Amino acid sequence: ASYDAGEHDSFMHKEMLEQPAAAERILRGRLDERFGTAHLGGLNMDARETREIRRVKILGCGSAYYVGQMGASLIEDLARIPADAEAASEFRYRNPIIEHDTLYVAVSQSGETIDTLLAVQEIRRKGGRVIGLVNVVGSAVARECDGGIYLHAGPEVAVASTKALTNMFVGFALLALQLGRVRDLSIADGQRLIAGLTRLPGQIEEILAGEDALAEMATGLAGAESLFFVGRVRGFPVAREGAQKFKEISYRHAEAYQTSELKHGPLALISTEVPTVAIVPDDELTDRNIAALHEIAARRGPLVVVTHAGVDLGDLDVRRIDVPRNERELDPILLTIPLQVLAYHAALTLGHDIDKPRNLAKSVTVE
Ligand code: AGP
Repeated sequence: ASYDAGEHDSFMHKEMLEQPAAAERILRGRLDERFGTAHLGGLNMDARETREIRRVKILGCGSAYYVGQMGASLIEDLARIPADAEAASEFRYRNPIIEHDTLYVAVSQSGETIDTLLAVQEIRRKGGRVIGLVNVVGSAVARECDGGIYLHAGPEVAVASTKALTNMFVGFALLALQLGRVRDLSIADGQRLIAGLTRLPGQIEEILAGEDALAEMATGLAGAESLFFVGRVRGFPVAREGAQKFKEISYRHAEAYQTSELKHGPLALISTEVPTVAIVPDDELTDRNIAALHEIAARRGPLVVVTHAGVDLGDLDVRRIDVPRNERELDPILLTIPLQVLAYHAALTLGHDIDKPRNLAKSVTVE
């Protein structure tokens, strides 16, 4: 059967709305509620090998790299293994030290991104172990890895990735769960996470159902030449991904920043002309985040705040987007979904070709 956008004006819209179903697919058959763990047979690692991992290094490009940063937090939080993400396009140029007890994770929708593929080859050349989080079955990255987790997001056509990214996040949660459960993550905590993962598809659907209100906010943002996306710790990769989507399809200058770093420089740019989209989940940093919102408001910067119901923003004059609560570790993906919708509607308002933004290709297969 041919694949088309059907009743949607673009593949991006179709693919955004497919996210609940896609998230269900990656979870199917992989959750072990009884033992609070994940079944990931494709990793090709037994419990002993899994336990010997001392570090995790995640490699991807663009949005896959940003989701990789979210994945690193999941792994550090749940498995307490030092983890970080790096742009695959930079990795091999710094003659990286490949360690036998590091697990390398290549993350890619297409599995054909040349920078990611060359990073995998460099690691394997030096004897490292690489697994893939890949959507396209049988793609180059999938073939060259020692094992992996297929994302089962289904075909993704729009250049701006949505459902594949969501499934990358869920894939990292499954990996973190398995890495955690061969270490100190308790059965109860594993089960808590599984219950959270099971709630995700419905919660994503809930956010997407609020599309009309998001569309209205997006129209406002589309009028700005330049905007900031800010977040802290778990919220920072969310801000990076939000800014990336926004610039890819709306062609507006969108810059991601750590909320905590605003006062060290970029606050100088805040004005009535420069809106900020702030990620303010209900977590240990909420008060500090709100203090930063006051700094922005004092410079009359327009604010859109992505947060949770119950977070008290006092008398701040903001446009507010509440996402459903889940386990804190899983917040980043729910905070990301409204940012896709904002980018999409900004581009729609501006009349851009949403699926084929200028200067960009779906996968970058030449260096
Ligand atoms: C996503 O919206 C972007 N178009 C882009 O950053 C993309 O994520 C990146 O090029 C990596 O692609 P891949 O997942 O196919 O490797």
